[in-house]
Amino acid sequence: MATQPVLRGRSADITAAGVPAGRIYVWEIPVRLTHWVNALSIVMLSFTGYYIARPYLAISPQETYSHFFMGYIRFTHFLFGYIFLASLILRTYWAFVGNQWASWRALIPFVTPEGRGLFRQSVEFYFFARREPPVVLGHNALAGFTYAIIVTLYFIQVFTGFALLGLSDPGGFWHTMTGWVFSLVHMQWIRVIHHVVMWLLIAFALQHIYVAFLIDAEESNGLISSILTGYKFIVPERHKHTDLHAPAQAEHGPDNVTAQLTTATATQPSDPRSPSA
Ligand code: HEM
Ligand code: HEM
Repeated sequence: MATQPVLRGRSADITAAGVPAGRIYVWEIPVRLTHWVNALSIVMLSFTGYYIARPYLAISPQETYSHFFMGYIRFTHFLFGYIFLASLILRTYWAFVGNQWASWRALIPFVTPEGRGLFRQSVEFYFFARREPPVVLGHNALAGFTYAIIVTLYFIQVFTGFALLGLSDPGGFWHTMTGWVFSLVHMQWIRVIHHVVMWLLIAFALQHIYVAFLIDAEESNGLISSILTGYKFIVPERHKHTDLHAPAQAEHGPDNVTAQLTTATATQPSDPRSPSA
């Protein structure tokens, strides 16, 4: 068993100042896999969904049944609808069995005083009231909270999508599961909700990609590559500017880097390639 706070891959060394340096395995495979499956699905569902709402391409002057273009578009939409659903089920399962950064708790920062503190620090950073963003290993608290809203939108989109699908098969599985909603809300409202949520997700995606690049540059922690490889980098110089060394947080803060490394060391196997393994 490794004695250093070694995660998978290279060890995270403790510097003279007691701050860990190195790389750490944060995002497990299911987190990364579902991230990219969701991203691809949302792109495909948005293009096909927009076309269903507004068929802007005149494929042929003939009757639509002769080329079946809308049929293929709808088929693609439903296919990615099922892929999106499968990905959401896997990510939800992993939120209960995955590591601390994959946990559902990472999406709800308000449940702990430290989470509330980190949330406040993130907001201050974006309002230029703070020079550096708080340094965390997993999601920053503001991002985590935003993802909670996004995941809620994912579920709304899947539910309204399958409710609309159920309409074409009355008495079928999806109609049985979702048809009750039409006794509460008119079908056209379900369509409107399904449509509006698409634009909310597109708006989120735009700012999300911008912020991913911003934070990658601000924190120098390899954030962008981390969602491909799983590894984030810990740069001790960045920690000088954070409040994470405050004794109270060092002992109890879920985002204290040393505390997280210690927890993770206890729960994750070290990599055989690691020199200290
Ligand atoms: C070039 C494209 C993208 C890049 C570089 C990127 C980058 C990242 C990174 C680095 C994280 C994890 C770090 C964090 O923010 O806490 C993340 C998480 C996340 N991203 Fe993206 N992203 C991209 C596209 C998208 C798209 C299109 C969506 C959906 C509209 C999306 C939704 C999410 C969600 C929901 C999470 C939380 C993941 C989880 O905990 O399961 N991303 N992304
Ligand atoms: C991010 C995910 C999704 C986006 C962005 C999206 C987008 C859209 C849009 C814009 C429409 C047209 C609504 C209108 O104005 O009439 C639509 C229709 C529809 N969507 Fe989705 N959708 C998504 C997920 C799903 C899922 C998971 C399903 C489940 C199979 C689904 C099933 C449907 C159905 C059945 C229709 C109606 C098709 C028709 O009337 O021919 N969608 N979608």
